[in-house]
Order: sequence, then C-alpha cells, then structure tokens
Amino acid sequence: MPKLCVNVDHVATLRQARLGLEPDPLTAAQIAELAGARGIIVHLREDRRHIQDQDVYNLKKHLKTHLHLEMAATPEMQKIALDVKPHMICLVPEKRQELTTEGGLNCRGEEKRLSAYLTPFKQANILTSLFIDADPEQIHAAQQIGADFIEIHTGHYADASNHLELEQELKKIISAIDLAKSLGLKVNLGHGLNYHNIQAFKNVSGIQEYSIGHSIIARSIYVGIFKAVEQMVHIIDQFPD
Ligand code: PXP
Repeated sequence: MPKLCVNVDHVATLRQARLGLEPDPLTAAQIAELAGARGIIVHLREDRRHIQDQDVYNLKKHLKTHLHLEMAATPEMQKIALDVKPHMICLVPEKRQELTTEGGLNCRGEEKRLSAYLTPFKQANILTSLFIDADPEQIHAAQQIGADFIEIHTGHYADASNHLELEQELKKIISAIDLAKSLGLKVNLGHGLNYHNIQAFKNVSGIQEYSIGHSIIARSIYVGIFKAVEQMVHIIDQFPD
C-alpha cells in the first residue's frame, strides 16, 4: 500500500488567484488517487486563502481514498470537521501572515486543552494527529494528549542551509520517530519533502504516511499531476514498512 498522501492546497491557490472554478482541487485529487495516492490532504485555513469550505465537503463526498484535514485547533474548525467527518484530522499551528506552516504545534503546557479538543473527534471515530517538531518534549506531550498519530515536521530538515545542519535535523527526526514509536504513537512525516530530500528516509521503517504537497503540485505543472504523483509513489514504494 503506497504511503503517499497528496496535499492539493496549491491547486486551490491557483484557482483563488482568479476567484474562479479552475483548477478544481477535487479533479486534481481524483487524478492523484488514480496515480496511487493513499489519501488526499487539505488545510482549511482560517483566512480561506486556498481551500474553501465547499472543497472539503466535495472531497469528502467524492474521494475513493481517505480525506485528511489539516486545521487550527479553533472552535470554528472543530465544528466544520465534525460535520465533514474526514478520515483524520491533523492539528497545525496557524498564523495569518505566514506563507505556509512554519513550525510544529506547541503541545507542552497545552495537554489538557488539546486533549479536550480531540475528545469529540475520538467519539466520532475520526483519527487524530498533531503536527509537531522533532522534539522529545513535544512527543511526550502528544502522547499525554492521547493523539493517535504525530506528524513530524520535516521543514527544518528540508530548509537546512548546509550539510551539517541537514545531518543534525535528520538525526533529530530519526530519534523522534523511534521515541514516538516506543510511546505507542503512529508517525507521519511532512513539510518540504521533495523527490530528492525524501531519499534520506529510504532505510527508515515505521513511517505510516508521507504528506507532500508543494513539490508534487510544482512538478505537475511540467509533467501533469498523474505523472508527478506516480513518480513520488514509485520512490516511496521502495522504502521499508
Ligand atoms: N504537513 C503539514 C502539516 C502542512 O501544513 C503542509 C503544508 O500545507 C504539508 C505537510 C505539506 O508540505 P509541502 O507542501 O511542503 O509538501
């Protein structure tokens, strides 16, 4: 089973550039499914800069695979997500001015609040995930909160400006994966992963899913979304379970 989940936010970014109907994230998602994606991810941001509420409902209605919803831990998003009922929700930090999610969610000191926030999702049988940095304190807090998954933020690794930094960030991620697994958390990885830097995980087992958007949507401009997804599936399919 391929471990790739494709984030189609940027398809909506392009559509919103003209506030029209095309390109449609649902069509892109359906082609990504045909090319082997295990699931589709969207982030419904508070400012609705790309994905709109109607997109989330359309995706839920028409997808053949799983819908994962990234969202801020706000009452508004909780209400929408409980109505849509995606396969999984992933809580992410959100700042209005950022270009994209810049770091992991802070779970330390927030255990009670986040655990209460996740309770209705658990009651509705929706899987829960927390997008966090590769930091042992955050991982322990995620376990206390009772999330099913963590998604380890790979953005610092992807953005490393030299080899030493890259190696350090990779080490942090690998130890974070081991720690999370030992605490009974399932692990996804995401942010900034592309066709090259993902190779660092080719011998790493125990990763459930890779969440990838920008590099795939960028490549799809040149080769089409089917090929762009298929090429990433092919890479990830070589990795161990
Ligand atoms: N995971 C999370 C939590 C994200 O916010 C994003 C970006 O929307 C991604 C993964 C995908 O990152 P990228 O678009 O850099 O592949």
